[in-house]
Amino acid sequence: MKSVLITGANKGIGFETARQLLKEGLYVYLGSRNIENGLKAVEKLKVEGFNQVEFIHIDITDEASIASARTTIEEKAGSLDVLINNAGIAGAFPQTALTTDTDNFKRVFDTNLYGTARVIQAFMDILKKSPEPQLINVSSSIGSLSLHNDPDWQYYDDANSFAVYSSSKAALNMYTITLAYELRDSNVKITMVDPGYTKTDFNGHQGTGTVEDAATRVVNALLHNQRPSGSFISEETNPETGEISW
Ligand SMILES: NC(=O)c1ccc[n+]([C@@H]2O[C@H](COP(=O)([O-])OP(=O)(O)OC[C@H]3O[C@@H](n4cnc5c(N)ncnc54)[C@H](OP(=O)(O)O)[C@@H]3O)[C@@H](O)[C@H]2O)c1
Repeated sequence: MKSVLITGANKGIGFETARQLLKEGLYVYLGSRNIENGLKAVEKLKVEGFNQVEFIHIDITDEASIASARTTIEEKAGSLDVLINNAGIAGAFPQTALTTDTDNFKRVFDTNLYGTARVIQAFMDILKKSPEPQLINVSSSIGSLSLHNDPDWQYYDDANSFAVYSSSKAALNMYTITLAYELRDSNVKITMVDPGYTKTDFNGHQGTGTVEDAATRVVNALLHNQRPSGSFISEETNPETGEISW
């Protein structure tokens, strides 16, 4: 049975991704920075009849918490097949390029970029012990530099008002490209996926898509993806091909 760790899986897209991967027969380590919320989320899945799921305490801004999560999984299983870096924050609003303060940038980057990199670095050796390791970074079309420069893009005005969050996802994309390059001679497959604008706490439920569709996009990027390592997929941007420009 393949195992997957999903960060920020106590709610939103991460929680629904956990549910869909349980249906696909994976063993899910449900990551949550809040113990109570993580345990409740696991309980909810167990009530639905899923038993191959366990709570992992992981705050991606906290090195000790990441190290402890890694030790727990290593001691239990010795390896990890799939890592889904889903945890993310939007930051404080408004966040226009001229007015947002640098603390806002620091907080968002500490989670979306540095936090994701910390988790990847900590888990890479046990991931490499899997026969078919896969790593998914949940990104966003908002991290696309080309779309930000396209006045015809549906989110052109909104996205360009998210100076902090947009920058963090663009930086995450670049980090992930360099990671895929560094691991080009290994069997670790790396994918960036945009779940699409989704109704969650993240955007005060203003998103237009459902968590079910968003999680299915993440699951497709993991289980039904013939693209090479280092690809960026957005079914919302291009439903037929999933193509998205950098
Ligand atoms: N919703 C959208 O429209 C949309 C669009 C494109 C991309 N995304 C991306 O999709 C991912 C999931 O977003 P969502 O919409 O499901 O948001 P959400 O409902 O707000 O869930 C975010 C999750 O990340 C967790 N988290 C935040 N900081 C963390 C940290 N330091 N350590 C561990 N976990 C942390 C949250 O934990 P708490 O519950 O403790 O806060 C929560 O479980 C994010 O990476 C987001 O950027 C979302």
